[in-house]
Amino acid sequence: TFMNGISEFRVLESQIKDKLQLEHVIIVSGDSDEQQTVKEELGKACVQFLNTIVTSNQTIAVTGGTSMAEVANQMKPLHQATNCTFVPARGGLGEQVENQANTICAQMAKKANGNYRMLYVPDPLSEESYHTIIEEPTVKEILQMVQDAKIVLHSIGDAITMAKRRKASQEVIDRLTTQHAVSETFGFYLNRHGEVVYKARTVGLQLADLDKAQYVIAVAGGKSKANAIQSYFKLGKSNVLITDEAAAKELLEGY
Ligand code: F6P
Repeated sequence: TFMNGISEFRVLESQIKDKLQLEHVIIVSGDSDEQQTVKEELGKACVQFLNTIVTSNQTIAVTGGTSMAEVANQMKPLHQATNCTFVPARGGLGEQVENQANTICAQMAKKANGNYRMLYVPDPLSEESYHTIIEEPTVKEILQMVQDAKIVLHSIGDAITMAKRRKASQEVIDRLTTQHAVSETFGFYLNRHGEVVYKARTVGLQLADLDKAQYVIAVAGGKSKANAIQSYFKLGKSNVLITDEAAAKELLEGY
């Protein structure tokens, strides 16, 4: 059926808000699994929302992935905010360069006329390196900025898709399957009840840090992500969801 724009989405938005217990929901038309232009619309919606909340001298922590890369593509100068700094929420040298949080941060900062800092650490890390790396002064400094960020921009992924994309071992994938992992965010894998069933050893933002942020904005769309979105929001850590029509409708049909 043909969607006649805003009013129909308003209803959908408030249904999602109720279902996921959220402060803000923004829905764009279409299915980003099917069309790249829908992902661009998600990016634009995120940039627009960011412009309404950001103030000068703020730190904005961002994650990697293709959804965040699209937010960076759509970024515009932040008119009412000067001297903002973009920091990667986590290390991510495991992803393709264009999808790494570092790359995305730099691009966002350039387009927003802001500053950026980098976090040069692999993701995930071995136990041994982890303890050494987090003691490095430059890493420590960025981690402090990440933890103090008042705005966090992130995406949500399907658990198994993300584990494979990060080249997790078969052992890890089997474990995620047995534990019924549904979603992944910030290196945390959750089941459909929003319980953490596995955590990759990553340097950067931890779930507990999110409690201190004012706005934790999730950008995730596509019918295939509906279960992942639902699972992540059981945690109650993000207060804004920017998604698409297909994910929203699928979400309402789910458990
Ligand atoms: O790797 C960073 C990340 O934000 C993950 O936490 C999330 O699961 C994934 O990217 C989503 O990726 P995409 O936007 O490409 O679906």
